[in-house]
Amino acid sequence: MTAEIIDGKAFAADVRGRVAAHVARLQADHGITPGLAVVLVGEDPASQVYVRNKGKQTKEAGMHSVEHRLDPDTSQERLLALIGELNADPAIHGILVQLPLPGHLDSELVINAIDPAKDVDGFHVSNVGLLGTGQKSMVPCTPLGCLMLLRDRLGSLSGLNAVVVGRSNIVGKPMAQLLLGDSCTVTIAHSRTRDLAEVVRRADIVVAAVGRPEMVPGDWIGPGATVIDVGINRIEGAGGKTRLVGDVAFDSAAQVAGAITPVPGGVGPMTIACLLANTLTACCRANGLPEPEGLTA
Ligand code: GUN
Repeated sequence: MTAEIIDGKAFAADVRGRVAAHVARLQADHGITPGLAVVLVGEDPASQVYVRNKGKQTKEAGMHSVEHRLDPDTSQERLLALIGELNADPAIHGILVQLPLPGHLDSELVINAIDPAKDVDGFHVSNVGLLGTGQKSMVPCTPLGCLMLLRDRLGSLSGLNAVVVGRSNIVGKPMAQLLLGDSCTVTIAHSRTRDLAEVVRRADIVVAAVGRPEMVPGDWIGPGATVIDVGINRIEGAGGKTRLVGDVAFDSAAQVAGAITPVPGGVGPMTIACLLANTLTACCRANGLPEPEGLTA
């Protein structure tokens, strides 16, 4: 079997288009423009690229975009004061503090200072609890993007065996909650899991989010399984050139899977698309308007 390649780049463009259409309707019918504030502390080059892309795509969707770039030695007090201002600003519906923060700042304290209704990353402990108890919450962007790709490919996920490899707070745990919410039988596997190959082989759905290059070989994948690869790992290839690979060995997995996301061009582009979707959702909720269909969990 040769797997269908799931085109996350095209799907993300479609999501952004649907967000932009909804934003245009909000403006025309209600005079409301969703606003997203992104806060970057320090000069981490990868974070600077992410923040630039977030701002660009926010504007392209017709939303109000604000960027706050703070010095690497910004104090916790100063950062908390800025979050307080953004919490109180009615033009801002979503707040994202780019992680990782410099070591002298307490990430948990900072994230939990964001108004949960504006926490478009879904990292606030209130949103984690709401998601875990099946209540309406803000949902972390990358797992939301994975869920959208799975629903698009498989329709109903009810009763399917899903194995999430990785137990991070950002991807693995919320992904498992979302799959459970769609009535999958969910296993969270990780580096200490016994017989990991056997566990993965039983899965109808594999979500790999461990951050280790090509850790899941093709012979762990069950025939026809749907494979969602969240990993983005830069490795050195032939001739000293670097290239991006996922957490799944793509070529061998594509021989057995029913469908698989490539790296790059799979899950990656979905993250910012879902950030825009979450900002729109937060804006609709703040204004007591119906939520956008197909763009939430
Ligand atoms: N850094 C890398 N990924 C993310 C993310 O999804 N959200 C935030 N806030 N920071 C990140």
